[in-house]
Amino acid sequence: MPIRMQCVYRRGIVVDPMPSTRDLNPFRFSGPLAPENMIDRDPESEELLALADGGHSFRLVGPRRYGKTTLLRRVLEAAEQEQVATVLVDLQDVLSIGEIVVRIERGYDRLKGPIRRNVDNLLRSWNIGLALGGGGFTATLQRNPSVDAESVLLRLLEMPAALFEKDGTVSLIAFDEIQDVLAVPGADGKIRSVIQHHGEAATYAFAGSAPGVMQQLFADPKRPLLEQAVPKNLAPLPLDEVGEYVAARFEKSGREVGSAMTPMLEFTRGHPQRSMMLAHYLWQRTPRGSSADEGTWVGALDQAAADSAPVMRAIWRSLTANERRVARALAVTSTPLYSEETAVAVGIKRASIGRALESLLNNADVIHEDKRPRITDPIFELWLQARGLTPESGDDGFDEQ
Ligand SMILES: Nc1ncnc2c1ncn2[C@@H]1O[C@H](COP(=O)(O)OP(=O)(O)O)[C@@H](O)[C@H]1O
Ligand SMILES: [Mg+2]
Repeated sequence: MPIRMQCVYRRGIVVDPMPSTRDLNPFRFSGPLAPENMIDRDPESEELLALADGGHSFRLVGPRRYGKTTLLRRVLEAAEQEQVATVLVDLQDVLSIGEIVVRIERGYDRLKGPIRRNVDNLLRSWNIGLALGGGGFTATLQRNPSVDAESVLLRLLEMPAALFEKDGTVSLIAFDEIQDVLAVPGADGKIRSVIQHHGEAATYAFAGSAPGVMQQLFADPKRPLLEQAVPKNLAPLPLDEVGEYVAARFEKSGREVGSAMTPMLEFTRGHPQRSMMLAHYLWQRTPRGSSADEGTWVGALDQAAADSAPVMRAIWRSLTANERRVARALAVTSTPLYSEETAVAVGIKRASIGRALESLLNNADVIHEDKRPRITDPIFELWLQARGLTPESGDDGFDEQ
């Protein structure tokens, strides 16, 4: 596949042109970031591009908000420069085959130029209710809810083969949050049955946040999605890169990060979204022409914790009783995880610790840091620590599940 090995956005901090009259917060912490606003991920981008270049499909696994979509978009943009048809399919929360069709159609809708025209023409010639722009398949479903979405899906999945046949165009198709197809019975099998045969025509990228489900989708011999997809785990960001980026953006906007930098890096420990979020709050509390300090940091962290509390509570509620106990043990206790002391402190049977830990790891609520399990999200860890070992009233869920 002729994607030239090249990284369009080279290392180095490319700061947005910042309007000098308006003071805009330069740290964005929701949704995927534009490649020029990213911290690092240069080695990852190059590696993934090299895989795609060699025609190797890959799967990218990393906790929620670790920058998977951001990285995929960068890899796709670089491939696009090489006239590859690049399609990013967001599968988050899909519930039906019809919805999967709509998501893929939307992925093609972002294409531009001659490739887009080819896709548009093909869709029109198929005459099965698919179209770029306009209502597309959503409108078709509304007009005719009993349309055979399965056969439309199978046809749409053949687009890379059709493009290749037409004029040799190759495709790079990224399925983001792929684990969510498991909520749609039979969908993973349908996708697999088509894409396995795309050899020269297409390379596939799969991204997902739950290592356990990704393992199941890709390695389970009963339902291998694409056996040869090379696995890649997304790590936290390097702290020096985060530090440089934050300092540069403070400076560019007439501020200094000052002594707030060290506690911020220590707390966020390379978690991409949390680094950006805390930098955002810190910046907000630092007037132009001044420097942040430890006091500013404490204020920023308090605000971040308060703003996130409802989400933290929802995460807590989504855990089983034993997962909560182990999460609490990891965040609060300093005794060895598998010791009797820890078990007693959080009210779990020692024999149950391993399984609960495994399921936390399977959902990436916990990751390994220097070979030790640790709560992935520093804000959640802080929330657990603030509550200590004694459940508050209304804490619910300390019964065995
Ligand atoms: N390389 C990066 N540099 C800076 N911030 C990042 C980076 N990757 C992710 N982020 C931060 O995390 C947020 C979520 O990124 P996203 O790509 O949507 O994550 P995911 O797809 O893994 O859930 C972004 O809005 C941004 O604040
Ligand atoms: Mg994402």
